[in-house]
Amino acid sequence: MAVEVRMPQLGLTMEEGTVSKWIKQEGDSVKAGDVLLEITTDKLTSEVTAETEGTLIKIVAQEGDDVPVKGVLAYIGAPGEQVGGQAAAPTPAAAPTPAAAPAPAPAAKKPAGETTVAVIGGGPGGYVAAIRAAQLGGKVTLIEKNKLGGTCLNVGCIPTKALLHAAEAISEAKEAAAYGINVEVKSVDWDKVQAKKSAITNQLVSGVTGLMKANKIKVVEGTASFASKDTLTVVKKDGTKENMTFDKIIIAAGSIPAVPPIPGVKENANCVDSTGALSFEAIPKSLLVIGGGVIGIELATAYSKFGTEVTVVEAAPKLLPMMDGELTAQMRKIMESRGVKIMTEAKVQSVEAAAVGAKVQVEVGGKVQAFEAEKVLVAVGRRTDTEGLNLDAVGIANDRGRITVNDKMETNVPNVYAIGDCLGKVMLAHVASAQGEVAAENALGEDAVYNGATNPSCVYTDPEFAGVGLTEEKAKELGIAYTVGKFPLMANGKSLIMNGGVGSIKFILGKEYKEVLGVHILGPRATDLIGECALAIGMEATVEDIIATIHAHPTVTEAVREAALAAEKRAIHIPNK
Ligand code: FAD
Ligand code: NAI
Repeated sequence: MAVEVRMPQLGLTMEEGTVSKWIKQEGDSVKAGDVLLEITTDKLTSEVTAETEGTLIKIVAQEGDDVPVKGVLAYIGAPGEQVGGQAAAPTPAAAPTPAAAPAPAPAAKKPAGETTVAVIGGGPGGYVAAIRAAQLGGKVTLIEKNKLGGTCLNVGCIPTKALLHAAEAISEAKEAAAYGINVEVKSVDWDKVQAKKSAITNQLVSGVTGLMKANKIKVVEGTASFASKDTLTVVKKDGTKENMTFDKIIIAAGSIPAVPPIPGVKENANCVDSTGALSFEAIPKSLLVIGGGVIGIELATAYSKFGTEVTVVEAAPKLLPMMDGELTAQMRKIMESRGVKIMTEAKVQSVEAAAVGAKVQVEVGGKVQAFEAEKVLVAVGRRTDTEGLNLDAVGIANDRGRITVNDKMETNVPNVYAIGDCLGKVMLAHVASAQGEVAAENALGEDAVYNGATNPSCVYTDPEFAGVGLTEEKAKELGIAYTVGKFPLMANGKSLIMNGGVGSIKFILGKEYKEVLGVHILGPRATDLIGECALAIGMEATVEDIIATIHAHPTVTEAVREAALAAEKRAIHIPNK
C-alpha cells in the first residue's frame, strides 16, 4: 500500500510551501530518513525526508508548485505499484478558519483621501487603528467617552507596572545588603507613589493626544452608539447629541471588570476591582484577592512587597490557567516563600462586613474557612463594554456582547470592523493594537489578516513570567508530537547576578522538524526575552536557527540559546540527560 509524502508544517504560521528541488526521482529506491526534496516557504528552506523505505513511485507536485500544508507531494510504495487516480490527490490545507463567515466588505470605493472612518474608543486598539487609518489617507474621527489611552494607559497596563516598579524598589533595597550595599527602606510615601503613577499615565495620555493632532485625527469627547449600519449617534460630554455618518466604522470599545455573583461583594465598599486597587487611599494591611489570574497575581506581587498581608483565592486547580503549568508551579512556590498565601480549587461563598473591612467565607478542601481582610480585590476576568452600542438593533453579530469577527477584523455588517477587548477573546493591549492596524488597513482597501500565533503573554511578577506559542499542556491536548528543552537560570551568570538564578526557560519543539512551537520563561527580563521567541515562531524558525544565533555574554538571552541546546542534548552549562 503506497504511503503519501506530504507537505510538512514547519511552524505555527505556515500555510503552504513551494517544491524547490526534487533530490530523488521517480523510480529511485529510498530508505527512511533519506532526503526526498527541498521545499521553501516565504521564510526558510527545508528538506523533506522519507518516513518509510520503498520506491518513489509517483511525484505529484513538481518543482515550482505551491502545495498547502499536508498536501500530497509524492507516493512511496513497491516498484510498479499504482496509486489511486494517480493525478495529485492533494489534501486541502488546514485553511485558517475565520471566527465567523461574515459578508465580505466591498473594497473601498472612494479614494483613500475621501474615505471617512470612525473609531469608537481611544484605547490601544482604537488609537492605533485611528493612526493607521490616517496614515493610509482616511479622514478619521475617534470618539472616546472617557479618556484617550483607554484601560491600558489609565487603569490597566501602565499604572499596574508603575506600582510594581515602585514595589520592586523596596525589594531591591532589601536585597542590596547581599551585595554589600546597606540601605534601609524607612517608609513608603504612598501619596508620592500614587503621584508618580499618575504622572506617568498623564504623560502617556498627553502623548496620545499629540499623536491624534499630528495625524489630523478629529477626537470627539462623547459616547457613541449605532443609529444605523453607517451612522453613529454621539452623545457629547457637553450634553449635545449628533448623528454622524461614515464610510467605515471600527469598534474598539474595550472591556470593564466582571462582577461575580458572590453574595456581599456589591454591598461591601471594601471590595474593589482593579481600578480601585490601583488607587487605595493607603497601603492596606491585608488584602484578599479573589481570582489568581493576571490582575490578581500582579497586584498580589505589588502589595506583598509594599508590606500588605496577601491571600489569593483561585477557583481553578492552578494560578494563571493559560500559562505553562510547570513554570506556574515554580512561580507559586516563589510567591509563597515571600509570604503570599495561595489557595487553589477554592471557592468564595460570600463576603460579609467585618470590623477590619471584610470577612470572606472560602470553601477549600471540602471545608469552609473564614478570612478577614481590610480590602478585597475582585479580579475574576473582564467583560466587553458593548452594552450601549445598539449592536443587535443594527444586526452586528455578537455572542452576549462579544463581537464576532473574521481574521480581517470584519464583522458580518459590511464596512464595520471590531478589534481588541470588545471581541471578548484575548484581552491584551498589544493584541488590540495589532488588530487595530489590520482593521484600519482593510477599511482603507488593503488586504490584511490578523494572526495571533506570535502573541506573547506576559505577567509582571518577580521574576517576570512570559510565554509565546503552545504550552506543553496545549501541545498534549492537540496531540502534537513534541520535545522539550529546559534550562535552569541558576546556570546563567547574568541571572545569578540579577536574582540569584531563580527561574527557568522551556522550549516546546515539534518532534520531527524541531520547529519552535512555544517558549516559556520565568526569570529576570522574561517579558523582554520573549520578543526573540515570538520572532522565532513568526519566522517558522527551528531549534537550529536559535542555536546558530550568537547570544551576547553575559545576558539572560544566553539561557534562551542554552534551553534550545538542551532540547538537542547539547547544553554547555548543565549536564545533558
Ligand atoms: P480599552 O483599552 O478598554 O479601550 C476602550 C475605550 O473605548 C475606552 O477608553 C472606553 O472609554 C471607550 N469606549 C467604550 N465604549 C465607548 C462608546 N460607546 N463610545 C465612546 N467610547 C467608548 N494588557 C497587556 O497587554 N499588558 C498588560 O500589562 C496589561 N495589564 C493590565 C492591567 C490591568 C489592571 C487591566 C485591567 C488590564 C491590563 N491589560 C494589559 C489589558 C489591556 O489594558 C487591554 O487589553 C487593552 O486596554 C484593550 O484595549 P482596547 O483598545 O481594546 O480597549
Ligand atoms: P483572568 O482571566 O486573567 O483571571 C481570572 C481568574 O479568576 C482566573 O484564574 C479564574 O479561574 C479565576 N476565577 C474566576 N471566578 C472566580 C471565583 N469566583 N473565585 C475565584 N477565582 C475565580 O482575569 P483578570 O485577572 O481579571 O484579568 C483580566 C484580563 O486583563 C486578563 O485576561 C488579561 O487579558 C488582562 N491583563 C493582562 C495583563 C498582562 O498582560 N500582564 C495584566 C492584567 C490584566
